[in-house]
Amino acid sequence: MTTLTDKVLLITGGASGIGRATVRRCAEKGATVIVADLNLDGAKAVADEVAAAGGTAHAVAVDVSDFAAVERAVQSAVDAFGRLDGIFNNAGIAGGKPLLDHDPERDYHPMIRIDQDGVYYGILAAARQFVKQGGGGVIVNTSSIYGEQAAELSFTYSAAKAAVISFTRSAAYELAEHGTRVLAITPGRANTAIIQQFPQHLRDLFASEQLRNVMTEPEEIANVVAFLFSEESNAMNGTVVNVDDGYSV
Ligand code: NAI
Repeated sequence: MTTLTDKVLLITGGASGIGRATVRRCAEKGATVIVADLNLDGAKAVADEVAAAGGTAHAVAVDVSDFAAVERAVQSAVDAFGRLDGIFNNAGIAGGKPLLDHDPERDYHPMIRIDQDGVYYGILAAARQFVKQGGGGVIVNTSSIYGEQAAELSFTYSAAKAAVISFTRSAAYELAEHGTRVLAITPGRANTAIIQQFPQHLRDLFASEQLRNVMTEPEEIANVVAFLFSEESNAMNGTVVNVDDGYSV
C-alpha cells in the first residue's frame, strides 16, 4: 500500500478541487501537508478537515505568480516541519477568449504568470530547498491534456500547460544528479470548480468526451499524485502521466 509516512509535502491550489483532494489523500497516507492557496480561508478549512480526520496540515497564503511568496511558502514548511520532501505545483486558472479577440494584457500575460510562471517558481524554490537538504525530493506539476493538443478558447492555457510539460522533462534532466524526481499529470475533465462554472449541457458534453462517460473525480486524480510522491514510483522520472479518463486516446 502506498505510504507517505513522515513526508512533508507542499500543495498549491490546495483549497479546492484536485489540490484539496490531494491534500486529504496524502495526509491519509501519512504525509504532513502544507496547504498553500491564494484563498487562505479555503486553505485553512482544508487543513481543519485534515486535522479532524487525525492528520497534520498547515495552511499558508501564497500567490504562485509571485516568486518571493512561493519561496516564503517553502520556507514556512521548513520552519514548521524541518524540511520539504515534495511539492505539487497545481494551482491554476482556466478560461480564455478567441485569439483574434485577445488583449495581451488581459488574455495572455495574467494567465501565463499563474499557470506557467507559478509552476516554474515552485520547481525552482523546492529544488533549491532539496539541494540544501542534501538532495532527493519529488516535484509533481499539474499540466492538462490541453498542454498536448489545441482546443477551443484555450490559446493561452494550452501554451502554459505545454510549458509545464517541458519544465517537467527539463527539470527531471537537470535535477536527477541531486536525486530529485519531477513528474507531471495531465487531467482531462475533472469534476471541480473550474468545470462546474459551465452550464449543465456543456458538462454533459465534457463527460461524454471521456471513455467512462463521466468526469474524473478529483479523488481519483489524488490517488495517482499520492503514488507519484511515494517510493513506489521511483522508476518514474520526467514522466507525463495522463489522468484523463481516456479523453486523449
Ligand atoms: P479549482 O478551481 O477547484 O482549484 C484551483 C485552486 O487554485 C483554487 O483553490 C484557487 O484558489 C487556486 N489558485 C488560483 N490562482 C492561484 C494563485 N495565483 N496562487 C495560488 N493559488 C491559486 O480547479 P482544479 O480543477 O482543481 O484545478 C487544479 C489544476 O488542475 C489547475 O492547474 C488546472 O488548470 C488543472 N486542470 C484542471 C482540469 C479540470 O478539468 N478541472 C483539467 C486539466 C487541468
